[in-house]
Amino acid sequence: MSKLNEAAEKQIREICNRYKNEKTPLMLILSDIQNEYGYIPLEVQEVVSEETGISVAEIYGVVTFYSFFSLTPKGKYVIGCCLGTACYVKGGQLIIDKFGELLGIKPGETTADGLFTLDALRCIGACGIAPAVSISGQVYPKVTTEQVPKILAEYRAKEA
Ligand code: FES
Repeated sequence: MSKLNEAAEKQIREICNRYKNEKTPLMLILSDIQNEYGYIPLEVQEVVSEETGISVAEIYGVVTFYSFFSLTPKGKYVIGCCLGTACYVKGGQLIIDKFGELLGIKPGETTADGLFTLDALRCIGACGIAPAVSISGQVYPKVTTEQVPKILAEYRAKEA
């Protein structure tokens, strides 16, 4: 298994230390690691285990249970397609399928260039504008399959 570099290990230990006095620190630690380090691979879980005394098996269970934790690095732009009931009824599945087809990835995967991650989301509280897609904080209303190539082009243009 690959080892963390020194700077990364120091960063993870520092995050663990923030919650030394908490009775149940695991979710707080993992949330900070996800936000600040970007993902929580096994080598990071091992450091958390050393610092907290919580087994790697338990940490792994938590990381894989909650969809906002990730074992692999996410893309620069995270495309969240809502598949909650309202969005599903209005064709949300067709939208996520179209993104997947154009990007050549499945939900949960990231493109090889590291630009896009495709995620399926539960209701994001925008049912009135279903089907909704959220990309790195921006919500797109009533998305159609025809709009999907244009949305991707918008983000690719930012990188050009
Ligand atoms: S079901 Fe998609 S926003 Fe509510």
